[in-house]
This record gives sequence, structure tokens and C-alpha cells, in this order.
Amino acid sequence: MADQPTVYLVGAGPGDPELMTLKGMRWVREADAVVYDRLVSDAILDQVPKGAARIYVGKQGGTHSLPQEDINQLLLDLVGKYRRVVRLKGGDPYVFGRGAEEVQALVAAGINVEVAPGITAATGIMAQIGLPLTHRGLANGVRFVTAQCGKDVPLDLNWSSLADPDTTLVVYMGLAKLPEISEKLIAAGMPPDQPSVAISKGTLPDQEICTGTLAELPTLVKDQNLKPPVLIVIGKVVTLFV
Ligand SMILES: C[S@@+](CC[C@H](N)C(=O)[O-])C[C@H]1O[C@@H](n2cnc3c(N)ncnc32)[C@H](O)[C@@H]1O
Repeated sequence: MADQPTVYLVGAGPGDPELMTLKGMRWVREADAVVYDRLVSDAILDQVPKGAARIYVGKQGGTHSLPQEDINQLLLDLVGKYRRVVRLKGGDPYVFGRGAEEVQALVAAGINVEVAPGITAATGIMAQIGLPLTHRGLANGVRFVTAQCGKDVPLDLNWSSLADPDTTLVVYMGLAKLPEISEKLIAAGMPPDQPSVAISKGTLPDQEICTGTLAELPTLVKDQNLKPPVLIVIGKVVTLFV
């Protein structure tokens, strides 16, 4: 690890602790303080040394338990006190993880930062359930989008560009907005029978999977009462699910 006080930004992967990088796990095991989010699994937190400080800053009920500016300040305070501060985030810190905002604040304050990437939910979970994101003849590309927006605010996505049946569409944070996503994609030209899957708690022991057409997925997910975090994947690659 570095000689000077450092913040180590670590991607924890989608949940299964064995899907973390060796580098990220080593940094966690050598940490003096760990700041972590809701999506970091208990099995990974079990690797934090007994004497290290643990600070939870995750979201609860759709709001940050700490505003982003306060998290940035917390990291600055901690790195003034401890030499090895690990900032642990679910998946990859740079995929819908606000990792770059934290790095920018730290670098602006002259703090040394090192980053270990993580397996993002899309790649980790799809591989785990036996599905590719691209596949010759089924999907010639893949797009990751977020459906995160204000509670009563309609989603501001470019529906006509997303409604491409030959590209796999992965929606992060889409559970609450699934009926709107399905409706708007179909209105923009995506076939109603486009194969789709929703995965709850992917790669974890209580993972649940719900497959169906784009038109029927919102009802199926509701009936199955899928719990967050949920990843939604829409595309012909889902026909390979067995
Ligand atoms: C704030 S984003 C963080 C994404 C993370 N940085 C990544 O690279 O996977 C949280 C969203 O990621 C997805 N997600 C992350 N882990 C998941 C899991 N184990 N199972 C299902 N979805 C997951 C869900 O869509 C969730 O709402």
C-alpha cells in the first residue's frame, strides 16, 4: 500500500465476495477505516480487520443517509486521522456509483487516491445466471442506463434510441419505474414480446429471477414481489436462459 495517507476506492462487485478483485480484497483486509454503502455484502464486510473503524453511509428508502458532500468531507476527515481509508462501493465505483465525484473532491484537496475496479452488476449477475450481454445474431451491443430520478418525476431517457431490439438494454435502479420503462419502450417501438429478465439480489444466496416479455415483466415482478436491489435486462440474449 502507499506510503502517504491514502483513500482506496474499491469496487466490491455485485455481492458474492469471490467476485471482488484480489487487489480490492487486500486493501479491505489492510484498512484502518472503511466507509461503505448498502450494497456491500456482509461476507465482504467480514474481511474488515477487527480494530478498523467502520462507517455506513448507504442509502435507505431512496435517499442518501449522508448527502454526497458530507461523504466527501467524511473521507477527508478520515484520511487526516488514518493512513489507509477504504471507500467500499457495490459493483464498480465508476458505474452509477458516484465514485468519480469522491475522487475529484479528494484529489482537489491534495489527497492520494488509488482505485480497484469492481465487477459491475450487469456483467457479474448475467454471467452468474448463464447469460451473455452480447451474442452473435442476438445482440450486437449493450447499453447501461439508470432509472434513478426523483420520486414523482417522469423518467428523462431517450426512449427512441433505447428501443433498439438488437441491443441489450440493462437498467440499473429500475424496479420502482418498471411499468413506465416497459410502457415507454414499447411506445417507442421496442417489440412488446422482447425477452426480458429481472434479477433481485444477484449473485447472493437469496437471488431471485423473473423472466417474461417486456410487456408482461412489470406484472410478473410485482406478483413475484421481487426485493431490491433489482437489475433489469431487456434483449434477445434472454432467450438463452435455461
Ligand atoms: C447505485 S447503483 C450501483 C451500481 C454499482 N456501482 C454497480 O456497478 O453494479 C445500484 C443498482 O445496481 C443494481 N445492482 C447492484 N447490485 C445488484 C445485485 N446484487 N442484484 C441486483 N441488482 C444489483 C441495481 O439495479 C441497483 O438498484
